[in-house]
Amino acid sequence: MGSGNNNRLSRRGLLLGAAASTIGTAVSATASATAATDAGDMLDLNRRYDFYGEVGQAGIRTPPQRHIFYMTFDLTSPLRRDLQVLLARWSGAIAQLMQGGTIGQVEPSRPNATGFDTGEALDLGPASLTVTVGLGPKVFTDTYGLADQKPPLLRNLRQLPSDDLKPELTGGDLSVQACADDPQVAYHAVRDLARIAKDTGAAATRWTVMGFGRASAGKGQTTPRNLLGFKDGTRNIIEEADFEKFIWLKEGGPSWQRNGTYQVVRKIKMHIENWDTDRIGDQNNVFGRFKVSGAPLTGAEEFDTPDFRKQDPGGNLVIPATAHIRLAAHENNNGLRILRRSYNYTDGINEIGLLDAGLLFISYQNDPAHFETIQEKLGASDALNEYISHIGSGIFFVPPAPRKGSYIAQEMFT
Ligand code: HEM
Repeated sequence: MGSGNNNRLSRRGLLLGAAASTIGTAVSATASATAATDAGDMLDLNRRYDFYGEVGQAGIRTPPQRHIFYMTFDLTSPLRRDLQVLLARWSGAIAQLMQGGTIGQVEPSRPNATGFDTGEALDLGPASLTVTVGLGPKVFTDTYGLADQKPPLLRNLRQLPSDDLKPELTGGDLSVQACADDPQVAYHAVRDLARIAKDTGAAATRWTVMGFGRASAGKGQTTPRNLLGFKDGTRNIIEEADFEKFIWLKEGGPSWQRNGTYQVVRKIKMHIENWDTDRIGDQNNVFGRFKVSGAPLTGAEEFDTPDFRKQDPGGNLVIPATAHIRLAAHENNNGLRILRRSYNYTDGINEIGLLDAGLLFISYQNDPAHFETIQEKLGASDALNEYISHIGSGIFFVPPAPRKGSYIAQEMFT
């Protein structure tokens, strides 16, 4: 990773500064709990990450950037060679984009020539862009002569109790997750990759979500909030040892898949107006945490360990049986843990004028069944179900980062 020191901004620092100048020192007691200087939360639009590497692709362990543009693609050519060319061309382009470059000329000198790069990210800097490519189940079929290369645990997700999936928001044979601290940088990357897909004839766009406001935290970052107003990402995977244990593939399948992982994505719509009329005591019980501090209902500070056995004087569980964190916690799932790397999204307003928004939930795990196990429990009893619907879904194998001079999943073709 290279990074410059110009253009460093802390959004929270700026906001607190602005608030202090307009309302003097009257910052409320609850808001003053947040610190304005947090190194992991500084925006540095010159920061860049490497696409090539030895372990997992960038965009998984990378501290979540502020924006995402996520897109899935359908394979449109039955030719193995077209898929191979697409992955090679995408890889070359992504490597350049992540360095803050263009993927070709924006303004060719011959007036009747067409620009190759669309140009809207010129002058914006790399903005911590990462582009993470996933391969869906259809890649590993006889059509492409790749059936014997299939990651052992890649398959369509089983039907889950929460499913209200719309076909037009579900599936896909390839996925592209572009994250950046500038939304236009993320958009530009996906747009230009979609152009390459069309150009090769290998793939066509399927569904997409533009997300803002990371809803998960990486190492050194403060915990952000989802659109229900709760801190999201408090108990997430951040330690190297947990990545080794729960995220990167270590055994089984062809050796080129080591340090790959499985990506599950769910477009989860929130019934925001209903939520907004719910009493705060109920909202806290839905998650099992306090809204402002993020502390578990059995604690005082955000990072206090929840006590799932604690009862009130009346003998009721303090963190209710239907609380989201009780059902999802590793203590109550035989130690299972997944990495959550989600974003808030909005699609504006719907046909009857209601806010159309939710969570683009993205998880990484070394076995998709880990997601299913947790989601099966949540789908059956989570108090949150009253306020959400799972409307989109996808599953992809995310190969390890390519080594310099090679491209994503190159080894599976040779
Ligand atoms: C719109 C949907 C969702 C919302 C708003 C939401 C929100 C939250 C919040 C506020 C927390 C507590 C803070 C934290 O530790 O991060 C949390 C925890 C968690 N959520 Fe979700 N979540 C959603 C969907 C899901 C799904 C689909 C899964 C997985 C199947 C999931 C798995 C988890 C896990 C594993 C934890 C950590 C529990 C713990 O160890 O205490 N969540 N979620």
